[in-house]
Amino acid sequence: MATKYSSMLLLLPFLLLLNIQGTASRLNSFYDSVIRLPSESESAENDEVGGGTRWAVLIAGSSGYGNYRHQADVCHAYQLLRKGGLKEENIVVFMYDDIANNELNPRPGIIINHPQGQDVYAGVPKDYTGENVTTHNLYAVILGDKSKVKGGSGKVINSKPDDRIFIYYADHGGPGVLGMPNTPILYAMDFIDVLKKKHASGGYKKMVIYVEACESGSIFEGIMPKDMNIYVTTASNAQEASWGTYCPGMDPSPPPEYITCLGDLYSVAWMEDSETHNLKRESVQQQYQSVKDRTSNFNNYELGSHVMEYGDTHIKPEKLYLYHGFDPATLNFPPLNSKLEAPPRMDVVNQRDADLFFMWQLYKRSSEDEPQKKTHIMNQIAETTKHRNHLDSTMKLIGVFLFGPTKNSVLESVREPGLPLVDDWTCLKSMVRVFETHCGSLTQYGMKHMRAFANICNNGVSKASMEEACIAACGGYDAGQLHPSNLGYSA
Ligand SMILES: *[C@@H]1O[C@H](CO)[C@@H](O)[C@H](O)[C@H]1NC(C)=O
Repeated sequence: MATKYSSMLLLLPFLLLLNIQGTASRLNSFYDSVIRLPSESESAENDEVGGGTRWAVLIAGSSGYGNYRHQADVCHAYQLLRKGGLKEENIVVFMYDDIANNELNPRPGIIINHPQGQDVYAGVPKDYTGENVTTHNLYAVILGDKSKVKGGSGKVINSKPDDRIFIYYADHGGPGVLGMPNTPILYAMDFIDVLKKKHASGGYKKMVIYVEACESGSIFEGIMPKDMNIYVTTASNAQEASWGTYCPGMDPSPPPEYITCLGDLYSVAWMEDSETHNLKRESVQQQYQSVKDRTSNFNNYELGSHVMEYGDTHIKPEKLYLYHGFDPATLNFPPLNSKLEAPPRMDVVNQRDADLFFMWQLYKRSSEDEPQKKTHIMNQIAETTKHRNHLDSTMKLIGVFLFGPTKNSVLESVREPGLPLVDDWTCLKSMVRVFETHCGSLTQYGMKHMRAFANICNNGVSKASMEEACIAACGGYDAGQLHPSNLGYSA
């Protein structure tokens, strides 16, 4: 962690994005100004989607002001889709909704996703907020099953065989999992099973899914079918972090009154790309490529991640407006950057360090006149780091108990690309429950240890042996507030 902090302060050489598409796009715009295909007519009516309707599900999986950026990303995505002509009734939003009116928000009632950005909060529907942001509801919403929804607006993706669906998720994650503000968290196989059901019911024509989270590639690696008309891109591969950006003290930095990051690297990359291009001309493939370049922080993987793709790649030649809609104001925008307007290299912070970074900012900025408050924040930071250290060290110890002191690396071993994280997802969940029972909640940070639980399953360890190892490693540990009896089990 310490190395991430120092590396994030390093200044990098500025890399120019080589614009090899320049010539092609100039030719394109010449061609387009002369001949306009019917599909590129200026109206953006539904008939262009082949009679179908465009739907979207937007999910911010976190809560808390330190996670401002995920809800900002999702609100921004909502505004973008509305400008593109999608209807409110066809967009379902999941967000905890504790940011805009948070006491720490310097602009009450407003959320921004860019240092110079406009408000993206106004008008965002409160479909599933607070306690109603659950995986249970997410699955029911995707399946269009209103009867299963608990709480919230009851809006679901009531889509038909001719329709297209866009799903976008922004949050923390870990190998095989995505966070949710309420437990349990999302397990990859459950999500894929929901997609399979939706496919089997003929509930859509094509689907595009974008996921930003740490290790987000692991949600699809080895388990995402290629024959369901679903194309997926993720912010990172199966074994690396994703990154927050527009963070205090960094470049580009938010307005000085903000002590939290405003966005995430992959997320702002796709949205800022969609906003600056004519989406009737830009293809899904073109966006994948430019987001990949930008999210790599221009080939600096110390401060960027590998955007990955999964599922049905036949969708890539399709134009983006089929999913994101078309904003008439972008009519004369190019399909790709035709001049050298490479987005800047961005300073970033590891998703997993972003919450501590935020608490540290809060501490630094709180007034000396309120020593009690300052002490309280410092105690919270210390609690958080203490629990993190506890999780890390007990995982190590459990590895020693189960596999012996010399084979400790079993827990960290990474499977070949193309193989799923774990063969038995039920086993993964049960190992998580056993661990949390004796050692305390994994919390947002602890999701990083999912690979260790997966490897415990892949090596055929029984639940009974795991239980013994957890009791031995954590016996007597008082998780206090961080016990699953308070937070719920994450599996
Ligand atoms: C959850 O949904 C129920 C039912 O719609 C609603 O009464 C409740 O206020 C919702 N909770 C939040 C925090 O929005």
